[in-house]
Amino acid sequence: MNERKTLYVDKDGALNIGGCNAVDLANDFGTPLYVFDEQYIRDMMRVYKCTIDENYGGRGLVLYASKAFSCKAIYSIAKSEKIGIDVVSLGELFTATQAKFPTSKIYMHGNNKTDEELKFAVDKKIGAIVIDCIEEAQILNDYAAQKNVKQKVLIRVNPGIEAHTHAYVQTAKTDSKFGFSVQTGAALHFTKSVLACSNLQLQGYHCHIGSQIFEKQSFALAAQKMMNFIAEVKNEVGYEAKVLNMGGGYGIWYTDEDPKLTVNDYVDYLLQVINTIKKYARKLKVKRPYLLIEPGRSIVGEAGITLYKVGTVKDIPGVRRYVAIDGGMGDNPRYALYQSKYTVVCADRVNATCEQTVTIAGKCCESGDLIAVDVKLPLVKRGDVLAVLSTGAYNYSMASNYNRNLIPAAVLVSDGRADVIINRQKLSQLIQNDVVPEKLK
Ligand code: LLP
Repeated sequence: MNERKTLYVDKDGALNIGGCNAVDLANDFGTPLYVFDEQYIRDMMRVYKCTIDENYGGRGLVLYASKAFSCKAIYSIAKSEKIGIDVVSLGELFTATQAKFPTSKIYMHGNNKTDEELKFAVDKKIGAIVIDCIEEAQILNDYAAQKNVKQKVLIRVNPGIEAHTHAYVQTAKTDSKFGFSVQTGAALHFTKSVLACSNLQLQGYHCHIGSQIFEKQSFALAAQKMMNFIAEVKNEVGYEAKVLNMGGGYGIWYTDEDPKLTVNDYVDYLLQVINTIKKYARKLKVKRPYLLIEPGRSIVGEAGITLYKVGTVKDIPGVRRYVAIDGGMGDNPRYALYQSKYTVVCADRVNATCEQTVTIAGKCCESGDLIAVDVKLPLVKRGDVLAVLSTGAYNYSMASNYNRNLIPAAVLVSDGRADVIINRQKLSQLIQNDVVPEKLK
């Protein structure tokens, strides 16, 4: 397990997070339960912010990629850490505005934003909209003209990098639904179109090469390609980008198959990006752009754990032992989607001898509803609390009501105190949008 000051095994062998005993949390708030370590989240936000402040003269902004975990409390934390956010939907943007997040520090993404999303973003005067398709530029330009404003925009560029990660989370290959390709000339061509839009103010470019990437050189290579592109546009069109958004994507530890990253790794990843930008700005004689980065997973991923209670233990002799928990793909669909691996521990005896190899199954009516396959555990029985580690990113945000299971609560823990930040869904909320037409009554 990846221990730290706010996530460790105490002297009695129990898991402690944010100064709270994990079994107590499960008993006090019920299971399944998402638990978020506030200090870890703040530390990660600060690591990125300080790296930009100290090594790039503060000429940049960290945007927390809130698709990783979106709720009012996380936006309040980001606000108090004086960073920005990226949002990808009306829902995320609405949530952020409800949390009174400063809209000038909100950047909006999406490969197919609706008219409603674009208009809401313009009306809220957000920092910039990252344009991802031709239609969007036209709609935005027309709406901005109608409102008599000049909308700040970035263009999403695809630098054509194949980073080593799951195919579904690779985003900057040439064959991608995202962005305009540098290689095919589409990005340069689209730049000219946007510059011709009288109510759009082009700030610069965005790229995002994928997620859960550990190769720092992939990010450096992306930065180099982006700087080359900025120079190409300057030479061909006479337009020099002021802003460069390098997206997110740096990885985290899930199991011991992943590197155990330290603060130095996160600093170093960003330094490689910063140093590449500085080097190529010099070499290509372009100005150093204002730098945006969009880390999501690395800010909240390891901050989160999920607590479950064991329900049944089923043996298929000679084949497999299933330990079924009171959650599953409804609160964490990542195994079902990507065969993602997790570390699972028994919360009251983390270091007990692991006498068995088991598969952790969820409670949904689907064979693929698994959380972890072939993991080592001590003997467990109904009622034992299991903790699945590194579940802070893309778990709650991808949760569903499949099988009409309820979406769990989330608590924020810090200094021995636990505060609910998302209430457990209620049965009445499951049916609140259901309508039975008269003819069926
Ligand atoms: N910026 C953009 C434009 C993105 O598309 C993403 C993630 C990020 C930033 C944040 O990347 P991060 O630092 O979190 O890697 N559901 C998948 C992950 C999808 C990532 C989508 N984009 C998963 O559970 O692994």
